[in-house]
Amino acid sequence: DWTPAHFIDETVEQLKEQLGDDKVVLGLSGGVDSSVAAMLIHEAIGKNLHCIFVDNGLLRKHEYEDVLESYKHMGLNVKGVDAKDLFYDELKGKTDPEAKRKAIGKVFIDVFDTEAHKIQEVKWLAQGTIYPDVIESVSVKGPSATIKSHHNVGGLPEKMNLKVVEPLNSLFKDEVRKVGSALGLDEAILNRHPFPGPGLAIRILGDVTPEKVHVLQEVDYIFIQGLKTANLYNQVWQAGAVLLPINSVGVMGDERTYERVVALRAVTSVDGMTADWCHLPYEFLAEISNTIINKVKGVNRVVYDISSKPPATIEWE
Ligand code: XMP
Repeated sequence: DWTPAHFIDETVEQLKEQLGDDKVVLGLSGGVDSSVAAMLIHEAIGKNLHCIFVDNGLLRKHEYEDVLESYKHMGLNVKGVDAKDLFYDELKGKTDPEAKRKAIGKVFIDVFDTEAHKIQEVKWLAQGTIYPDVIESVSVKGPSATIKSHHNVGGLPEKMNLKVVEPLNSLFKDEVRKVGSALGLDEAILNRHPFPGPGLAIRILGDVTPEKVHVLQEVDYIFIQGLKTANLYNQVWQAGAVLLPINSVGVMGDERTYERVVALRAVTSVDGMTADWCHLPYEFLAEISNTIINKVKGVNRVVYDISSKPPATIEWE
């Protein structure tokens, strides 16, 4: 029978044998998968695992600093790379969702490749690929499967000419969480909602600017902190905010305003393939809406997304 402890023992043994004294590079994302992959490999080869965590300027508020800190606490050999401006430059003027995804994937590969080359004699690229990703990339052929190009860094191994090691490629998400828990992974990372690789860029409809990222980070932060405070975070599969490319009329004091609209999205799901909009309490939504409009400059209207997947998707882009 499958148990986390058994899986860990077996995998660490295999990794030791497979990797020997070789150096391995791994890109951390702040998500569960890459974190658990890193912990397993770290368990097997220690400091020969070199982790890279890239700040693409599209992460949640405080995320880069917080996550980097917890990785360091875990004893991982991790290097943080601030590449915000490279991503913003490449995104400048791009409005098409797939073009934005491609731009982000490209910059990520460039940044990662450059950093990896600073490590002497690195032989392996480790990835947190899990079983559903393997299935998905096999079936990404027909037009329906390419609705969104989820595997944003699919070209990485080819470009880098490294051997690939994927210790989680036989596991489902819940098993990855169990393994992470058994390895003592931070609660905050373990139960984190899924977050897309292209980050806030695909939640800013239209072109991405640092100023829009800032507005959305503030809105998203209020929403997510609110969910945590109200003990709703763990009942939701994924939540976030979307910055819409329209202004709406509002009134503040006796002034007319013409400011941004944000949409809040919260869904329940098992695997992200289908999802229901979350029936969050009205009182909670009312409070979050008030807080956002009062605190975030430039936003005068909040709407709540009540679409399920299918036919809608979780993200708006
Ligand atoms: P959709 O919007 O297709 O999203 O219902 C399903 C799940 O996938 C995430 N998602 C992405 N993840 N790169 C990623 O790494 C992407 O380009 C991407 N697009 C969507 C989304 O957040 C949800 O969890």
